[in-house]
Amino acid sequence: MYAPDLRSFPDAEAAARAAALLVSEAAARAVAERGRFTLALSGGSTPGRFFELLAQEPMDWDRTHVFWADERLVPADSPESNQRLARERLIGRVSLPPGNVHPMPSPDIPLEDAEAQAQAHEAALRAFFGKEGSGHPAGGLVAGFPRFDAVHLGVGGDGHTASLFPGQASLGERLRWVLPVRYAVASPPVARLTLTLPVLDAAREVFFLVSGADKLALARAIAAGERPDCPASRVRPASGSLCWLAG
Ligand code: 6PG
Repeated sequence: MYAPDLRSFPDAEAAARAAALLVSEAAARAVAERGRFTLALSGGSTPGRFFELLAQEPMDWDRTHVFWADERLVPADSPESNQRLARERLIGRVSLPPGNVHPMPSPDIPLEDAEAQAQAHEAALRAFFGKEGSGHPAGGLVAGFPRFDAVHLGVGGDGHTASLFPGQASLGERLRWVLPVRYAVASPPVARLTLTLPVLDAAREVFFLVSGADKLALARAIAAGERPDCPASRVRPASGSLCWLAG
């Protein structure tokens, strides 16, 4: 059975601190080994404190590139924008060069055109990660998908992660890197973009950060293989690590 590493902490603050440390250590390794660090962030209500603590870590921001695992198709200054949360709590607090921030919705394409937005972001990722073959030392691709150094994920009460929702065809995607998502039950009920499962699975280090008793119980059930219905349980990095930080 695929058994992820589940680490439970006394409170949300301790879990957020562990997440900041995990990222900072992954960044140091990536910069030393490959000269750059690629990080994909999630949104929701949990990561704010993690972002604040990460902003205090001694990171080489010049060599760090920030992406998103998913995004709501709303203006960048909307309270519902994942990018806005990260800009307020992390990006705006560190010396990250503007060119190292790779937000999902393109300002050049109408937000209503989710398919064009998804294609544009995938093209941008393809340009960034290049066309190197599997296992390229500089990062590049693994089995045709981009190899993020670290991917931060959350989980919803229904088991969704990034914007991969239960029962949706997006879970079976095997070619595309980025998909548009329309799922009426999502909260907030807005169209989204999401990285696909093969992209999450190609990463070097994937970690879920969750808080609260309900999410800890869900994390335990997923880690024990009891919730195969949850999209979060489908994340299984092929040649990377996976852990859950719960507090
Ligand atoms: C989003 C997300 C999403 C999030 C979970 C957990 O855009 O909504 O990235 O996948 O990580 O819904 O969210 P909470 O932190 O609010 O529990």
